[in-house]
Amino acid sequence: MNTPSLALIGGTGLYRLAALEDVTDFTASTPYGEASGPVRIGRLGAHTIAFLARHGEAHSVPPHRINYRANLWLLRAAGAKRIVAVNAVGGITEAWAPAVLGLPDQLIDYTWGRISTLCEEPGSEVLHVDFGDPYTPSLRRALLQAARRAGVPVVDGGCYGVTQGPRLETRAEIARLRRDGCDLVGMTAMPEAALARELGLEYAGLALVANWAAGCGPEPEREITMDEVLGNVDRASAPIPALLRSLLDG
Ligand code: HPA
Repeated sequence: MNTPSLALIGGTGLYRLAALEDVTDFTASTPYGEASGPVRIGRLGAHTIAFLARHGEAHSVPPHRINYRANLWLLRAAGAKRIVAVNAVGGITEAWAPAVLGLPDQLIDYTWGRISTLCEEPGSEVLHVDFGDPYTPSLRRALLQAARRAGVPVVDGGCYGVTQGPRLETRAEIARLRRDGCDLVGMTAMPEAALARELGLEYAGLALVANWAAGCGPEPEREITMDEVLGNVDRASAPIPALLRSLLDG
């Protein structure tokens, strides 16, 4: 088995990559404790890639309890240098409608109480990584070009507001996020993106719009259901294997 230089992190509704062939598992103990599960390494066409389900393959780990450090450490130990992080999100602004696929380019972190740095332990090196562009611009650009080559429509750029969860937001909270400039909302891009930067990994987010965020869209008072979320994530994730193949071929 070749070393996977690219890894995909699956979010809500994406717990495995059915297109992966000849799958082997990779696990190791990490300095930060247990990851969400094993890294599945397999072939996608001519390429070897790694896959990890962020919430665990049975969706047993809520966003605020994910061991983001262990997950990224394990992917790096498996050989990954580039991470494509899939996140189910709620859409706030018009372009981010349900079942849309998009590549955010900015983040605002509203989470609290999560271990958000490798510098947590006494004695660890103090890092002040540049985070002006929270997603690696070259990987984001490569994904965008791959999407164009593969004929996969994606929204180019948007600000992802990261909330604590696991509950969804109030309409007032989403109105505040909109005023802050957020286009989409989710619960898992932070601290993952910042830790990837500290670990020296290239990192780009691929957001799948699961629903209109609270108070948004044509029926602002409609309740958000898990059926709706999973149905839209399913639809939005259908082109992911083609997108990855195009990225790896490019
Ligand atoms: N809010 C936060 N996270 C989400 C949402 C949402 O509306 N939908 C999917 N993940």
